[in-house]
Amino acid sequence: MAQKDYTLLGESLLSYKGAVFTLQHFENGIPEALEYLDSLKSFHIKDGDIFIMTFPKSGTIWMQYIVSILHENDHPDLLEKATHFRVPWLEYLRPAHKIDTRESPRLFCSHLPQHMVPLDLQSNRAKIIYVTRNPKDILVSYFHFSQVLNALETADNLDEMLENFLSGKILGGNWFDHIEGWFNNKDKYDILFVSYEEMNMDLRSVVMKISKFVGKILSDVDIDKVMDRVTFKNMKNDVIANYHNSVQENVLDLSKGSFMRKGTVGDWKNFLTVAQSERFDQVYKERMKNLPLKVIWDQGAA
Ligand code: PPS
Repeated sequence: MAQKDYTLLGESLLSYKGAVFTLQHFENGIPEALEYLDSLKSFHIKDGDIFIMTFPKSGTIWMQYIVSILHENDHPDLLEKATHFRVPWLEYLRPAHKIDTRESPRLFCSHLPQHMVPLDLQSNRAKIIYVTRNPKDILVSYFHFSQVLNALETADNLDEMLENFLSGKILGGNWFDHIEGWFNNKDKYDILFVSYEEMNMDLRSVVMKISKFVGKILSDVDIDKVMDRVTFKNMKNDVIANYHNSVQENVLDLSKGSFMRKGTVGDWKNFLTVAQSERFDQVYKERMKNLPLKVIWDQGAA
């Protein structure tokens, strides 16, 4: 078998084909991990499959919960299960997910870049919801999360975090490549782009948009019920939605923070210095010059 190119970032992250994964999910070793990741290109898509694609810290769990609530009648067996079981990660699937025998529509999420996802997704038999978030808030969210998730390398300070982010040395890889890959290839897929900021500022419209996209007809009362369950406050206290009770104790160090940390738009302003923000802007301007993506940087700027 040919040697495959990969890099280790510190002790816990595996960089492969422009994406970065946590090693802890691959206890059978790196060759098997690479083999599995390559095999995803030919992963069999079933009619009606729904995929949530995100760069880490973009609001994945929020979208996982919304989409899984919309499908609770389709999956009564999953009602008591945590969000990450209802909507498992494609790149970290386990036999326990019993994905081959799940009723349709099967729900997945993934942080994979566009060039690593199943080719069959281009058959339009599956739907994709891609969640974007302003990258300065992603950076700040990731910085805090890396203190809590034991599997992540922790940057000592925001200067180091900023450089790791800009060079793609974090879980997920390079944000600019991720968004560019998905955006430039969007016409190949049945895909809906939704932003974290839209969700924060007008959740009702987003729930309506998503339910229409996945083919669910909701009454106003149904929409109210979904919205109530997915507010930041309610998800923070909901053991199905947050990770606090559903992962092993050694996975998260909750003495250092919370998965459901703050849930706001523009929090980067409380953390990045002017110099750090300008450094970010410089790279952003260059990398994003050909991408017509409108980013909402803070709450007042909508
Ligand atoms: S991960 O680790 O990639 O799966 O993280 P992800 O779920 O993508 O992102 C976590 C951030 O999303 C925020 N979040 C929410 N914000 C508002 N409302 C709701 N309901 C909600 N649920 C999750 C979560 O707090 C993280 O953002 P920060 O800025 O760190 O608070």
